[in-house]
Amino acid sequence: MADRRLGHKKGCIMGKTLSIIKPDGVARQLTGEIIARLEKNDLKIIAMKMIHMNLAQAEGFYSVHKERPFFKSLTEFMSSGPAVVMVLTGENAIVRYRELMGATNYKEAKEGTIRKDFATDIEKNVVHGSDAVETANFEINYFFNSFEIVA
Ligand code: CMP
Repeated sequence: MADRRLGHKKGCIMGKTLSIIKPDGVARQLTGEIIARLEKNDLKIIAMKMIHMNLAQAEGFYSVHKERPFFKSLTEFMSSGPAVVMVLTGENAIVRYRELMGATNYKEAKEGTIRKDFATDIEKNVVHGSDAVETANFEINYFFNSFEIVA
């Protein structure tokens, strides 16, 4: 059954998604472990950099959540330290990366997922991944220009 929102249809679709190793993941030196999990699962890194967002940049990235009660806390956390941003590609990349991450709330995440293994809080949940094709396009373009993404 096709799920167009997630760019997920029967068969192979190469897709792109944005991944962030959040400030908690970088501070806890989980970057290498998380990248190893991506690569072992055939998600290929085609762009990567370390950034330290200021508050305005974090607010712009999460503007879709600006009415949510957790917006202030989330954007302060996301601008509290360095993060690693990556563009991943692979078959059904959006869906497969979300499966690797696990549920937003780590208490509901499946065994063996990144959030189940490492998250400490619904906010400090170690990683972010795009949730749909349109979101992925916005998020990738938010951090990377075309010269920074390898073919
Ligand atoms: P992320 O996948 O980056 O998308 C939005 C983020 O908001 C989410 O992960 C969490 O880090 C954060 N967040 C904090 N509180 C909540 C909440 N109650 N529900 C959903 N997301 C939350």
